[in-house]
Amino acid sequence: MVPPNQQGGHRGMPVIAVTKERRSGETRVAAVPETVKKLTAAGFTVVVEAGAGLSAAFQDADYEAAGATLARTPTDALGQADIVFKVRAPEPEEIQATKKGALVVALLNPYQDRATLDALAAQGATAFAMEFVPRITRAQVMDALSSQANLAGYRAVIEAAEAYGRALPMMMTPAGTIAPAKVFVMGVGVAGLQAIATARRLGAVVTATDVRPATKEQVESLGGKFVAAEDEEFKAAETSGGYAKEMSAEYQAKQAALITEHIKKQDIVITTALIPGRPAPKLVSAAQVASMKPGSVIVDLAVEQGGNVEGSKLGEVAVVGGVKIVGYANLPGRIAADSSALYARNLMAFAELLKDKEGGFAPDYEDEILKAALVTKDGAIVHPSLKG
Ligand code: NAI
Repeated sequence: MVPPNQQGGHRGMPVIAVTKERRSGETRVAAVPETVKKLTAAGFTVVVEAGAGLSAAFQDADYEAAGATLARTPTDALGQADIVFKVRAPEPEEIQATKKGALVVALLNPYQDRATLDALAAQGATAFAMEFVPRITRAQVMDALSSQANLAGYRAVIEAAEAYGRALPMMMTPAGTIAPAKVFVMGVGVAGLQAIATARRLGAVVTATDVRPATKEQVESLGGKFVAAEDEEFKAAETSGGYAKEMSAEYQAKQAALITEHIKKQDIVITTALIPGRPAPKLVSAAQVASMKPGSVIVDLAVEQGGNVEGSKLGEVAVVGGVKIVGYANLPGRIAADSSALYARNLMAFAELLKDKEGGFAPDYEDEILKAALVTKDGAIVHPSLKG
């Protein structure tokens, strides 16, 4: 193994370390046997901490068979690593065990977790936040926000179905007919679209809302009905990056009146609305929750960003007037084998960017994707949106 050259010019391929996620409730892992095999074939050396994949049902023996070396402790794995792959930000002791100049690639939660960025910078790590990978065509294969949001949207419907004491599809039986459930999806990004598709597959009657006009057609193409106040502000509510804007108080009031009427007829509401870098917009008030029938279910996918629903509690199912508000954290972690596999593929695609044309280890910091995702380098926080 050629030691890394801090100037980034050496020809050998580096060591990638994958440690167990230690954050409470985190079941995912940043490499799976399939990606280990491909990374090894691409010339990387992969070191996996023993037991790292167990909570996602990946066994040590399968990592070894795929070409990984097992490390007994995180420190053993990190001490030799030129690249560290994680799901969440490394723990403080992991950062301390990371070599100066090593690359750390993870969902770093950069807007909320400044302390980790400071620690990574102080350690001299070159850190990349997977959240900042730009949403351009070339980067789709490494778009971790999408790969995880898609599974979260699916899982939200499964959680709702589990908490709901009735069936989702219409059923005509000799003993009588069961009406289909009415499902309302608020926020039609990646998670919302998958929630609509999943609820439709289960036979529910689906409606959806969003502030971005482009979503109307997407909802309809999935067999859902679109519900929104479609005024001039709505027509201009999308940024050039394809994200939602924060809406005016007037628009929010107009939309709320419409939603108030709609929500009381719904059996299941799934909220997924986010605005990058801002707290989640409040979309469902306590009065709207109170207007729903007992036995109805709300799943608040934005609960970790402050929640879309008044009364949702992080990590809990809150019961308010007979309505269950599901506030589980980390829904992708509740489908850990698939979410790990997709995230690990996102990272594998990212690793390709760290090579030059001849296949040597030479990250091109002028590359559009690396540039956008880079958050710390040479002892400092360097991302424009995080400086100052
Ligand atoms: P997100 O997770 O940031 O937000 C979820 C949804 O909530 C968005 O659709 C947003 O418009 C909506 N929302 C925000 N405020 C709202 C409010 N007050 N009321 C109702 N809805 C509200 O979004 P996500 O899933 O990350 O996707 C954002 C955009 O990026 C979409 O246009 C998506 O299609 C696009 N995208 C593009 C990709 C690419 O070109 N490679 C990859 C993935 C997504």
